Amino acid sequence: MKRIATVAEMRELVDAWHEAGDTVALVPTMGNLHAGHMSLVDLAAQHAEHVVVSIFVNPTQFGPSEDFADYPRTPDMDLRRLQRAGVDVVFEPSVEEIYPRGTDGVTEVVVPDLSELLDGAARPGHFTGVTSVVTRLFNICEPDTAVFGQKDYQQLVILRRMVADLHMPVSIVAAPTARADSGLALSSRNGYLNADQLEQATAISAALTVACEALQSGAEDYAQLEHTARAAIDAAGLSCDYVQIRAAVDLSEPGADTLNLVVLAAARLGDVRLIDNMLVTRAV
Ligand code: PAJ
Repeated sequence: MKRIATVAEMRELVDAWHEAGDTVALVPTMGNLHAGHMSLVDLAAQHAEHVVVSIFVNPTQFGPSEDFADYPRTPDMDLRRLQRAGVDVVFEPSVEEIYPRGTDGVTEVVVPDLSELLDGAARPGHFTGVTSVVTRLFNICEPDTAVFGQKDYQQLVILRRMVADLHMPVSIVAAPTARADSGLALSSRNGYLNADQLEQATAISAALTVACEALQSGAEDYAQLEHTARAAIDAAGLSCDYVQIRAAVDLSEPGADTLNLVVLAAARLGDVRLIDNMLVTRAV
């Protein structure tokens, strides 16, 4: 497994692969890899001859009061896992390599509206940070395919929109959410939780499951389902930010004929913000 830290070296290698007629799949990550990330790596290997995993804790997607400095960084463990998974290249650039002119006043890629909803409302600028860094990673790694997790559903929808709007020559592949046996969606931020909190946090996936089962059985009062789910999450001692039932395709408010839905939730547990979602097809 090759470790690459510079744009020039990454480009040179990918260009050589493309010249040889090979395809490349990119899995962008911020490291601290868990089984969810590794499922993306496995899926990437099914889509291309070569797999590149980027590890870059992107400063521009963290708010001023968020955990950029404290974000868990576990490079040795990450490299061991990626090596075992047979990854070709780990791209691990410095902040200076990605943002040579710094991060203030630098070129951004903005997906309007979608970036301001839901988690975007709670985290102003977050999704613009994501689209701006993923564009850079795409330009550097020139992947034919890029794999993202459904765990961050709004991020996935925004990146699909960006790729479509800008005619980026990348196909986006979505990987299902990997969960602990308890139902809790795997996340690097779960590492901030103690054993009791990990138990409490299962209220989120439990409430989403109840809502999805109701939708599958034909429930139509979305506001009531959202309210019940919020109440269940709060009752477990979390502070629920939102539960929303939206159209899976574009996160718009679902109409009477919208069949493919996503139920999204965000909640705080102490200082930790947790998100989760589930896709469901409504009964007709
Ligand atoms: P990060 O949180 O490290 O996640 C990297 C990728 O792993 C994302 O596509 C995310 O959706 C996916 N992922 C995380 N937990 C998952 C789970 N339990 N099951 C399936 N997939 C999961 O998301 C980011 O980094 C960043 O915003 C990034 C896209 C790298 C841009 O900086």
